[in-house]
Amino acid sequence: MNILITGGSSGLGKAITQKLAEDKGNRVYFTYYKSAGSAKEISSRFANAIGIKCNFCNKDDVKSLVSQIAEMNLEVLVNNAYSGVFLKGHFHKVSSSDFLTEFEKNIIPTIEIAQAAISLFRKKRQGKIITVLTAALFDIPIGASMYVANKAYLEKLTKVWASENAKYNITSNSVSPSFMQTALTADTDERIIEQMVNEHPLKRLLTVEEVAETVLFLTHASAQLNGVDIIMNAAT
Ligand SMILES: NC(=O)c1ccc[n+]([C@@H]2O[C@H](COP(=O)([O-])OP(=O)(O)OC[C@H]3O[C@@H](n4cnc5c(N)ncnc54)[C@H](OP(=O)(O)O)[C@@H]3O)[C@@H](O)[C@H]2O)c1
Repeated sequence: MNILITGGSSGLGKAITQKLAEDKGNRVYFTYYKSAGSAKEISSRFANAIGIKCNFCNKDDVKSLVSQIAEMNLEVLVNNAYSGVFLKGHFHKVSSSDFLTEFEKNIIPTIEIAQAAISLFRKKRQGKIITVLTAALFDIPIGASMYVANKAYLEKLTKVWASENAKYNITSNSVSPSFMQTALTADTDERIIEQMVNEHPLKRLLTVEEVAETVLFLTHASAQLNGVDIIMNAAT
């Protein structure tokens, strides 16, 4: 399979890139922005993994990535990158311009990349879109209004992609992980982390490898599995 993962050089994205590159039959394209060293390391470990620099805040970078999608001859798109912050403060203290900027640098690039992938998938009558959302959509943390609002927007787009394209053998599913220890959550107070572990039914936090396994499953899933969100929070 030819696969593109956005933000595939660090955190969860790196785990996904590596998991999918283990299959030598896959050609795995992944974008990176700041994690250039890690991108190099991944490409040297996996001959089938190709890093592409793309800063979502740079329109030319996004345009260039979009223009390469047809020649990548993709079968799978994994929307993983998030170029914003998790916690910003209480909603009433966040400026509307911050909301706009966060939207422009996360949602607009994701829309443009997905449009290019869907146009290709429709011609091929085949394709899978897998989008990383968040379990914070269902158990909303204080101070995460911008993050949750952006993910909620994406959540609805994943359903639109599923319903508009099902007859072309294209699926759109998502995964909603609970808290994982990555750069995005690196500022979390260790006492909060301890509390989350204690309150967790498994007494341990979700790992990026566990989510990467779920993404791997979705890359192989039947086209009958469409419009589904897999919430990974160990809740019963
Ligand atoms: N950590 C959690 O608790 C958690 C929970 C649920 C969902 N998620 C989701 O999981 C996904 C990955 O996040 P993570 O936890 O792995 O955090 P992370 O390590 O901070 O990953 C964020 C990714 O986005 C990329 N990125 C950041 N700024 C960018 C920019 N301006 N342009 C393009 N790419 C950019 C980063 O690439 P570079 O490193 O190359 O700059 C990185 O690969 C996100 O969609 C996040 O919302 C995370």
